[in-house]
Amino acid sequence: MQVVRDPKAFREACEAARVRGERVGLVPTMGALHEGHLSLVDRARSEGATFVALTIFVNPLQFAAHEDLGRYPRTLEADLEACRSRGVDLVLVPEDGSMYPPGFQTEVAVGGITKRWEGVHRPSHFAGVTTVVCKLFALTGPCVAVFGRKDYQQWRVIERMTLDLDLPIEVIGHPIVREEDGLALSSRNRYLSPEERTRALGIARGLHAANEAWRAGMRDADALAAIVRGPVEAAFDSIDYVAVASPRSLEPIDGSATEAVILVAAHVGRTRLIDNLELA
Ligand code: PAF
Repeated sequence: MQVVRDPKAFREACEAARVRGERVGLVPTMGALHEGHLSLVDRARSEGATFVALTIFVNPLQFAAHEDLGRYPRTLEADLEACRSRGVDLVLVPEDGSMYPPGFQTEVAVGGITKRWEGVHRPSHFAGVTTVVCKLFALTGPCVAVFGRKDYQQWRVIERMTLDLDLPIEVIGHPIVREEDGLALSSRNRYLSPEERTRALGIARGLHAANEAWRAGMRDADALAAIVRGPVEAAFDSIDYVAVASPRSLEPIDGSATEAVILVAAHVGRTRLIDNLELA
């Protein structure tokens, strides 16, 4: 496994792989890797990638001033070991300052789909994500790029950007990996005390209950949201949103919906968690 700090060296290694005839897969991450990230590597392989590039970059552009950029977990040695054991071919860990050179003044911003839910609570977040993902796409030139569905709206936003800009990349959203008790894997779970971790299960419980109601025929968005809110309100300190939305547009559903996703963001202690479930 090759590890590079210089984005230009990363670009050259990806270019060399393409010239050799490899199908390049990209897994962009912010590090603090867990099984959820590593399952993205496996997914890239099962989508036919013969050369998997993974990036580790805690992207300052997608954090607001009051958010957790400073304390975001950084576990580089363990991350590289995990990548090695999962068969990643190339890792980019950009040197400080190398992703945004002095004078950087370009933003890639998607419209409508970024304005709801996360976009309301983190207004500059998605432009930070799409700007860096666009750069990573340009550096890598992948055939396929894999993102976790835990950041469900992010996945849909990146799909939209890729479609709108005619980027020749297949964007895959890989299902959430959960602990046995239902907690969605997240780098931010490391912030939780044992007591907060127990409380954090409220989201998975709420989502599961709403799915049962959906299976029993409930299609009323407010009623479904109320089912989720019950256990989340009981366990969390505050809720940013519980959204019952159409999976692709992320617009709220009406009673005739045949498919829906429930998205949740809530705070337990100092930690903000997000989770979601496609109803089926
Ligand atoms: O999902 C993440 O880890 C990040 O938002 C991403 C896609 C790597 C962009 O910084």
